[in-house]
Amino acid sequence: MREENELRFRKILLNNGRDIPALGFGTLIPDAAETITATRDALEAGFRHFDCAERYGNEREVGRALQAGLAAGGIARDELFVTTKLWNSNHRPERVEPAFQASLDRLGLKYLDLYLIHTPYAFQPGDDQDPRDQNGNVLYDPGVTLLDTWRAMENLVDHGKCRAIGLSDVSLNELKPIYESARIKPAVVQVESHPHLPETEVLEFCKEKGIVFLAFAPLGHGARPGPLEDPVILAIAARVGKTPAQVLLAWAVQRGTALLTTPRSANRARENFDISALPESALDEINRIQTRQRLNEVVKTGIPGFIPQGKARGA
Ligand SMILES: NC(=O)c1ccc[n+]([C@@H]2O[C@H](COP(=O)([O-])OP(=O)(O)OC[C@H]3O[C@@H](n4cnc5c(N)ncnc54)[C@H](OP(=O)(O)O)[C@@H]3O)[C@@H](O)[C@H]2O)c1
Repeated sequence: MREENELRFRKILLNNGRDIPALGFGTLIPDAAETITATRDALEAGFRHFDCAERYGNEREVGRALQAGLAAGGIARDELFVTTKLWNSNHRPERVEPAFQASLDRLGLKYLDLYLIHTPYAFQPGDDQDPRDQNGNVLYDPGVTLLDTWRAMENLVDHGKCRAIGLSDVSLNELKPIYESARIKPAVVQVESHPHLPETEVLEFCKEKGIVFLAFAPLGHGARPGPLEDPVILAIAARVGKTPAQVLLAWAVQRGTALLTTPRSANRARENFDISALPESALDEINRIQTRQRLNEVVKTGIPGFIPQGKARGA
């Protein structure tokens, strides 16, 4: 029987009075057919929180899989938590509502649980998601500030189709001023985080201000070497009878964060959902890991992609 206090069913209260399932499924999956099967498998494994983005180019496929899950019965829309993100080329305030509505239409939904500004970097406005000059340099848009974009995001909440708004790929340098000036405070901040990049300062700020910290790449994006092969994680996994992935995901939830993981097979979806609480001593051991490694530079440039290394894929 489902027990609400089990780690895999944990929900975190948002500053809008609703809650977000801590275990989230990320849809950064390049292949369209695989997006549908992986989203369906995640739903069947028990995931109810889905993270999308216009940039991923597969909102339609995610939407189809979610609609099929809803239509098959047993799952109601309000049991799902669906997020998508505003891309860099849509930061101009007049582009925000149309971009939001286009995402909603592609997903086939009537409202979104969360809409994030994907990165704090505005690119040249337009339909080209990756505008470059003749030398291949990204064309940024100096004509719009992050606060301008945030004000347009606040309007979406006022109009009722978007329940919460937040930021992604920010450091405290961007987060603090938006937090101070916001009429509607960010509900969620999504950043890369795992034991090799704990982002403790951002987490502390979020906890102090009632913002949910949402970790992407909690398995270190599957990079090897990486957190999945850290000797501390391997030793704990052997001791508690769980897999290294389950140890990493449990640690993230137990430190009070939500997370996004991307299993692409049904077996891995079941594995990644089947987490249980680690003893305090194991959490302490993980918190003492000294290795530091950032796997995604998007936070520095707004240009997406994992740093190619070992098995890590570009994205
Ligand atoms: N805001 C942003 O800029 C941003 C950037 C990146 C990602 N994200 C979001 O975060 C989500 C998660 O990111 P991520 O893909 O890095 O997540 P992740 O879960 O840390 O890494 C996924 C990788 O781990 C492997 N994996 C999954 N389950 C495993 C298991 N049980 N054991 C061993 N390896 C396993 C997968 O391998 P296989 O593919 O072989 O199954 C895949 O290579 C994305 O889908 C996206 O929604 C956001």
